[in-house]
Amino acid sequence: MTDISANLVLGDKKVDLPVKSGSIGPDVIDIGALYKNTGTFTYDPGFTSTASCESKITYIDGDNGILLHRGYPIEQLAEHGDFLETCYLLLYGELPSAAQKKDFDHRVTMHTMVHEQMSRFFTGFRRDAHPMAVMCGCVGALSAFYHDSTDITDPHQRMVASLRMIAKMPTLAAMAYKYHIGQPFVYPQNDLDYASNFLRMCFAVPCEEYKVNPVLSRAMDRIFILHADHEQNASTSTVRLAGSSGANPFACIAAGIACLWGPAHGGANEAALNMLTEIGTVDRIPEYIARAKDKNDPFRLMGFGHRVYKNYDPRAKIMQKTTHEVLGELGHKDDPLLQVAMELERIALTDEYFIEKKLYPNIDFYSGITLKAMGFPTTMFTVLFALARTVGWIAQWAEMIEDPQQRIGRPRQLYTGEPQRDYVPVSKR
Ligand code: SDX
Repeated sequence: MTDISANLVLGDKKVDLPVKSGSIGPDVIDIGALYKNTGTFTYDPGFTSTASCESKITYIDGDNGILLHRGYPIEQLAEHGDFLETCYLLLYGELPSAAQKKDFDHRVTMHTMVHEQMSRFFTGFRRDAHPMAVMCGCVGALSAFYHDSTDITDPHQRMVASLRMIAKMPTLAAMAYKYHIGQPFVYPQNDLDYASNFLRMCFAVPCEEYKVNPVLSRAMDRIFILHADHEQNASTSTVRLAGSSGANPFACIAAGIACLWGPAHGGANEAALNMLTEIGTVDRIPEYIARAKDKNDPFRLMGFGHRVYKNYDPRAKIMQKTTHEVLGELGHKDDPLLQVAMELERIALTDEYFIEKKLYPNIDFYSGITLKAMGFPTTMFTVLFALARTVGWIAQWAEMIEDPQQRIGRPRQLYTGEPQRDYVPVSKR
């Protein structure tokens, strides 16, 4: 709490609202007692000025393009660490020692298989079902298999559920992909690291030995790090709200996956690649820039803009570097999609409209080109986002469960419907 307060005058009512400061970032006005003291709600559709919780996990400074996980800059984590180290950091708050890292990696590895009967879920879906639809169904179904880690009041069960989610998402994601393309499922292999194991489960076939390309597995691991957590974004807020009712963690993560699927959120990587493909060539870019600026045209530049970043998304810079590494390794340096993306970015960053509205490329702008070059179909892009974001969702869910202030989330509304009126018999309507 700070020693300043917000003085609110509401007609003949005056109320002092306490102001709280965090360790860094904006102060908050605690409005918890506002309705009780004034009979008035606050109103903030889209939560542009609302802090929904207190958290120690991730900090974003949108004006300066800063992203910290437990205080560590994303650039340093992506450069020096690996994804499971970032998972440990997000879950437990500190970077692991060598022994802690070895133990954590082993515990995750020992949970990578899914119950064999899970495979029957996949055969119930049409082959052309969107893999995100499959993931919503299968992740929610995990609560039907792992009853020994659904009691959210038991810290041990919460830890087991967290490890299971982190460990099984790559397996389920790979199974969704294999089912989609009509190939047999590939079991996890315990002597491979997390990203290599995932690539092998996606791209290995029974007919030949699969060799992991170290440049691609490093790139995959870094892409997972970049997508791991991002403060109180829409899907994380969905997981927190679902968890606030006491729902089990598997059901909460399934809710997060459903929310992430939207093209304004995690679905933007698929939409961005489809947009670049539709633009096709550099000479057609001005037409699409004009459409993005046209108020009467619903078209938006997918992969551009952000609710928080009013500067370059720090993840997008690292993603762009990874794109060049992967395309270079695969001999696709002249990929026309990359040429269109780079020219589109160059034009947009010098265009008055995008400058005035502070629209910069976000994490989704370059990720699609990279994932396509690695062999993933566009329909798998958001699945990979969900795979990586699972640790963020789980860490935020656990923080909420352990928060003494935590109560069920139940917003109110501004009602603009009909005042009370009496029923009219059908004979008189
Ligand atoms: C992710 O929250 C997170 O942290 C999300 C995420 C994470 O890691 O969890 O970072 C992941 O979701 C990244 C964002 C991916 N979405 C897209 O790339 C879709 C395209 N972008 C937009 O739809 C939009 O920018 C949002 C949804 C990302 C942000 O929307 P806001 O904050 O509600 O902003 P807005 O829609 O009010 O836009 C402000 C203005 C508007 O113009 P005016 O009404 O003020 O005249 O900017 C314009 C918008 O029309 N605008 C765009 C634009 N994005 C915003 N115009 C053209 N192209 C765009 N992409």
